Amino acid sequence: MGRKALVIGSGGREHAIVWALRYRSLDVEEIYCVPGNAGISEIATCLPTMDWKDFAGLIDLARDKEIDLTVVGPEAPLVAGIVDAFNEAGLTIFGPGKVASQLEGSKVWAKKLMKKYDIPTAEFETFDDPEKALVYIQKKDTYPIVVKADGLAGGKGVMIAETFDQAKEAIEEIMLRRRFGSAGEKVVVEEYLQGEEVSIIAVTDGEYILPMLSSQDHKAIYDGDRGPNTGGMGAYSSAPIVDYSLSKRIESEILFRLLEGLKKEGIEYKGVIYAGLMITEDGPRVLEFNVRFGDPEAQAILPRFRGDFFDLLLASATQGINKQVVNWDPRQCVCVVLASRGYPGKYETGKVIYGLEKFTDEDDILIFHAGTKRDDQGRIVTAGGRVLGVTALGKDLKEARDKAYSAVEEINFEGKYYRRDIAEKGIRRLEQTQRSG
Ligand code: AMP
Ligand code: GLY
Repeated sequence: MGRKALVIGSGGREHAIVWALRYRSLDVEEIYCVPGNAGISEIATCLPTMDWKDFAGLIDLARDKEIDLTVVGPEAPLVAGIVDAFNEAGLTIFGPGKVASQLEGSKVWAKKLMKKYDIPTAEFETFDDPEKALVYIQKKDTYPIVVKADGLAGGKGVMIAETFDQAKEAIEEIMLRRRFGSAGEKVVVEEYLQGEEVSIIAVTDGEYILPMLSSQDHKAIYDGDRGPNTGGMGAYSSAPIVDYSLSKRIESEILFRLLEGLKKEGIEYKGVIYAGLMITEDGPRVLEFNVRFGDPEAQAILPRFRGDFFDLLLASATQGINKQVVNWDPRQCVCVVLASRGYPGKYETGKVIYGLEKFTDEDDILIFHAGTKRDDQGRIVTAGGRVLGVTALGKDLKEARDKAYSAVEEINFEGKYYRRDIAEKGIRRLEQTQRSG
C-alpha cells in the first residue's frame, strides 16, 4: 500500500511541498492538505474548512486517514506546538517542537543562543522594558540601527531606524502601542549590517544536517529592493555569491555550531533550519533563523530536488538523514511572484486568473499557487496578496529568468503586479566573475 501525507498550509511554499511529495517521491498514494488552495487541489485532497489551530481535529484526521507523515509549511503552527501534540498522539510529523521553534518564535531567545555558541550575528542588546531600551539608544551615535519585535510579526516586526527619533518611534510602536501584540513584549536592538542577503535552508534530524541549495529572496515590493517589505516577491537558486568556500564556512560556523549548541542545551531539533544571512565584508552573519522552508525560496529549490522527498522528510522526523541520497538538477531555477496590486497593503481579491491552462504539461515551467481559490462558477480567482509563483528551470540563471518572465506574460488577472528584476543580482554577479576571470 502506498504512503499517505498530510500537509498544513495554503501558500506557494505548500504547493511546492505537495508537488515534491507527489512528483519527487516514490509510492505516495494520497496527499491531504489543510486548508490548501486552488492549485494544490489539482494534485491533493484539500480540506479548506479545517483550521490549523484545531490540533485535535488534525490529529483525528491523521488517524482517520492513516497518514504516515504530516508536514507543516508555516511557522505559526510549529511555534504553537503542533509537533508536540502530534508526537504525544503517537503520530509522525515533520518539524521542530515548541521549545525548538523559539529559534524563530523569539528573536531574543535566538540571539542569546547565537551569542552563547559563537554563531556570527549582528551585535545586539535585548530589552523587556521600553524605558531601558530608550536609554540605550540615546547613547548610540552610529545609525542606522535595527529594532526588532521579539515574537512572530509576519515579517513586519523589523524596523531599520536612520535616526534616534525613528528608533524611539520603533520602540514605542512595538513595546508601548503593541502594534504586533504580545510579540512586542521584548525587543532586540541590533547593529545594522551591510551586504547581500542569502537564504540557506537545511534539513536535520537533530544529529545530521543536510544543506539544500542556496537561494535568494526579494523581500521589498519594488524593483531595486525599494519600498516596504513583503513576504517575498521572488526567489532563485542557486545564489552565485555562495561559492564553495563560503558554503563550507556557513556550514561550519553557522549550521554545525547551531546544531551542536541545541544539543548541548538538551533541545531536540528536527525539521528545517533556515538561516537568513547577510554576507558582509567580514563574512556571513545571521539575520534570523526560521524553522520552516522559505516562501518563495521553496518554490525555487524544490523543483531541482532529485531524491525521495517523502523519505527525506520522514528521515528528519524519525532519524536517518545521513542515509538519504539527495542530488540536485543542475539547471537553475527562478520564481517570480505575481501579486495583487496594493500588496503588502490593501488589495482586492476575486479577480479571475487567465492563462493557467497553458502550463499544465511543461517540464521546465511550474506555476505554484499561493492566494487562489475556485469561485462558485469553478473559475480560479485571486484570494490573497501573493497569488502565484511563476517558476522556470533553465540551463543558467539568465535562461531560467527569461523563461519565467515569458510565462508571466501569458498569465493575467486584473491588478497583476510583479517585480521585473528577480534574479538580476545573481546574473550580474555571474557576468562580473566571467569578465574578471
Ligand atoms: P529578519 O526578520 O530578522 O530577517 O529581518 C527582516 C529583514 O530586515 C531582513 O531580511 C533584512 O533585509 C532586514 N534586516 C534585519 N536585520 C538586519 C540588520 N541587522 N542589518 C540590516 N538589515 C537587517
Ligand atoms: N522568504 C522569506 C521567508 O520565508 O521568511
